[in-house]
Amino acid sequence: MAENDPFPGEDNTGHIWDGNLRELRNPPPRWWMLGLWASILFVVGYGILYPFWPTADGYTKGLLGWTQIEEYRRGVAQVEAVRAPFEERIRGLTAADILADPELTQYTVASSKVLFGDNCSACHGSGGQGNPGYPILADDYWQYGGTPAKLVESIGQGRQGSMPAHGEILSATEIDRLARFVTELKSGEPGAEDGWSLYRAKGCVACHGQEGDGVVVRLPNGDVITVGAPSFRNGIWRFAPGGYESARYTITHGVNQPGRPGSREAVMPDFGASGRLGEQEVKKLAVYVHQLGGGL
Ligand code: HEC
Ligand code: HEC
Repeated sequence: MAENDPFPGEDNTGHIWDGNLRELRNPPPRWWMLGLWASILFVVGYGILYPFWPTADGYTKGLLGWTQIEEYRRGVAQVEAVRAPFEERIRGLTAADILADPELTQYTVASSKVLFGDNCSACHGSGGQGNPGYPILADDYWQYGGTPAKLVESIGQGRQGSMPAHGEILSATEIDRLARFVTELKSGEPGAEDGWSLYRAKGCVACHGQEGDGVVVRLPNGDVITVGAPSFRNGIWRFAPGGYESARYTITHGVNQPGRPGSREAVMPDFGASGRLGEQEVKKLAVYVHQLGGGL
């Protein structure tokens, strides 16, 4: 081979392609070899100290006794040690007490995010922004009241608004007039007088309130009593898609009427009484939701 080598004096392997492309026998640079030996040593050291080689019935455990699950457990224990004193303080307080203390509020909101994500966001959206047919929790408007106590009640006991179907009680003209009336109010208009008289005459006022804002009784302490009938005085439609047709549908078929297949469904599951969440968790979620929307 060497005598045919067109590149005499060069330490090549004799493998030559395309006339001048050849394989040389140069040693790799020193830094590269050092790096190679250092990494081999590292692997050997690592293999001795940490879990490494598979064996017939498991794996070598390593001299340090480190395990991933142990590290995770230590992490969880650390988090719990930070949380425990807060959880203890919250235990004796009401949701309103917690909201009066900025530090406890901050802790409660931060530690309830996952709770909300796991239990509530499927229906109410991950930021409480609502979904078609499910109410928004991140605004200032509440069908059942937004005080801390009312929120605890909504979450702990569940809610299920009820409105009778008016399809057989009212004439088609009356239903049409009321649906238009509701749509007018929703779009910010004051509502024509004939609309208001029909609204009062047909009993809508009993649940949707004197002002059409869903409030049945206002208490001196600022709290309200409602039956969960939505306000017509804001632009938020409770049922999708909203608008005149949607209103006509609700008036005709009602809400949560057993034995009436067309009726709207509106069920907020009870989380406390059913045992799905503990009292402490319900309280924390009330604080969380209150911070999303700001209460009354
Ligand atoms: C299966 C769907 C569903 C889930 C899950 C759910 N909700 Fe609801 N929630 C509803 C519906 C529907 C309503 C409205 C009930 C009505 O209109 O009568 C509602 C109403 C509410 C209200 C009252 C709103 C108002 O305007 O007064 C609050 C507060 C609330 N939910 C909080 C929560 C929290 C907190 C969770 C998680 C623990 C949760 N919800 C989980 C469906 C759900
Ligand atoms: C017994 C109480 C009650 C009476 C009476 C009642 N409603 Fe309702 N109405 C409700 C409740 C409760 C809801 C909402 C249910 C829910 O969200 O759970 C509702 C919902 C509605 C909606 C849906 C609004 C939206 O945003 O999608 C319309 C429209 C409506 N009512 C119109 C009327 C009209 C018009 C009358 C009079 C003919 C009337 N209601 C009588 C309780 C009542």
